[in-house]
Amino acid sequence: MTGVEFRHVSFSFGTNPADQVLRDVSFTAKPGHTTALVGLSGGGKTTILNLILRIFDIESGAILLGGKDIQRMKIAELRQQFALVSQDPGIFDDTIAENIRIGRRDATEEQLLKAAEAACVTDFLPNLPEDLQMPCGPRGSNLSGGQRQRVAIARALIRDASILLLDEPSAALDKETETRVREALRGKTAILVTHSVAAMRSADQIYVIEDGKAIGPLEFSEVVMKYDFD
Ligand SMILES: Nc1ncnc2c1ncn2[C@@H]1O[C@H](COP(=O)(O)OP(=O)(O)O)[C@@H](O)[C@H]1O
Ligand SMILES: [Mg+2]
Repeated sequence: MTGVEFRHVSFSFGTNPADQVLRDVSFTAKPGHTTALVGLSGGGKTTILNLILRIFDIESGAILLGGKDIQRMKIAELRQQFALVSQDPGIFDDTIAENIRIGRRDATEEQLLKAAEAACVTDFLPNLPEDLQMPCGPRGSNLSGGQRQRVAIARALIRDASILLLDEPSAALDKETETRVREALRGKTAILVTHSVAAMRSADQIYVIEDGKAIGPLEFSEVVMKYDFD
């Protein structure tokens, strides 16, 4: 299994040093573990995920994937290793099945049902597999926020990628769904940006992203003692 390591990574969007978003950030997302990134909005958590995927390139330091500098990898080869659930679930005007298959074009019916099940999509679709043919509507407007999020999670899980990147996936999920989705992550390498105390508790290690730095790894008890999350 593959892990991700940030070594003294700095990054800015502009040229003004005062606007630096990340300053000397170091952390390791261990293989087979869930690493939670927490912290105030605007702290740089989404930026960290974007840097891993090389949506932007870092200023200094290094990001290693399985010990290999991502700067030396082909972008396609790099991105193939990841599945991303972004803050915007990105649902298209097509069926639920097709929206999940975006994660893996050649998925079998069985893989489709398995991913739908693990992401709790099947909870709001009583008749399977027929219900997977339900149209999502323009930008997923036939679905609730939580349902769109579940489709996005199923899309990520079906990829069976080495590493999952999840950006606040529990924002629109109810508690029970969240618990079951966390179950689906067990044993996988995942980087989970979250505000959810329950999700933090189940993570193997936690880093707080604050003032452009990564503080950690911290235990759950240390995080709740030092920081005020709801
Ligand atoms: N594309 C961008 N261009 C310029 N500034 C950005 C861009 N994306 C994010 N930022 C800024 O970078 C900082 C970190 O943002 P972000 O990584 O989205 O934080 P978080 O995900 O922790 O809420 C914020 O100050 C935000 O305004
Ligand atoms: Mg964010």
